[in-house]
Amino acid sequence: MEQTGTAPILSVSGLNLHYGQAHALKNVTLDMARHQVTAFIGPSGCGKSTLLRCFNRMNDLVESARVDGSIRFNGAEVNESSTDVIALRRRIGMVFQQSNPFPKSIYENIVYGLRIAGVNDKTTLDEAVERSLKSAAIWNEVKDRLNDSALGLSGGQAQRICIARAIAVNPEIILMDEPCSALDPISTLKIEELIEELKSKYTIVIVTHNMQQAARVSDVTAFFYLGELIEAGGTRKIFTNPEKKQTEDYITGRFG
Ligand SMILES: Nc1ncnc2c1ncn2[C@@H]1O[C@H](COP(=O)(O)OP(=O)(O)OP(=O)(O)O)[C@@H](O)[C@H]1O
Ligand SMILES: [Mg+2]
Repeated sequence: MEQTGTAPILSVSGLNLHYGQAHALKNVTLDMARHQVTAFIGPSGCGKSTLLRCFNRMNDLVESARVDGSIRFNGAEVNESSTDVIALRRRIGMVFQQSNPFPKSIYENIVYGLRIAGVNDKTTLDEAVERSLKSAAIWNEVKDRLNDSALGLSGGQAQRICIARAIAVNPEIILMDEPCSALDPISTLKIEELIEELKSKYTIVIVTHNMQQAARVSDVTAFFYLGELIEAGGTRKIFTNPEKKQTEDYITGRFG
């Protein structure tokens, strides 16, 4: 595991989340290091997506959700009522399981966040489109059809467009919730290679049900069960010599 010696970019401490009476996250404490890929694994319903959504306050949109405990992003408390949530979501972008390109041109998908931020200078937008599409490893495939609808792309291409759209606003963290589960093996491989490239510029947190994927792409793996963080550590260690029996049972396919 790479030691950067810098403070964690995200620091979760004593985090609890309830949906009404249901206790979905139980006293979770976890640091995430800058420029690393952290994978969240665990059986369905253990709280992976819920935790991911806490990082950029997406659970604000869920009426029954109640959060307590601390999440610090670059040292600043995310759960403060004074947090500028729009700015937070620009700094912490998100890519979902089902790619969700907007029914607009490829170009307008990429510049969407910039336009909302008031950027309209054509040169700036053109540069952002090229930079983001290159970073998302899809420039060569779409550079001659930027004005075509993004809805005409394959699933794998659409997912890379969504990654490019997240990159366009210069985030620090990209959250990915099962980004490959709807993709074929070739597209999955492309996204995995992309994750490896992106971590030099961004910090990535990825939820995956695919153990091999977690082992391939992540530096750190966190295993969750029934809302609890059971164990987190260097990916190699988690997959070869975990501390907890529950972790071992899960990664060896005995349950989940
Ligand atoms: N909007 C919601 N309202 C009420 N309960 C919810 C909501 N979203 C999730 N839950 C519940 O919280 C728990 C954690 O769900 P979550 O979606 O975070 O799990 P997950 O680990 O991402 O699962 P999966 O691997 O199936 O995506 C589950 O019991 C789920 O039913
Ligand atoms: Mg989920």
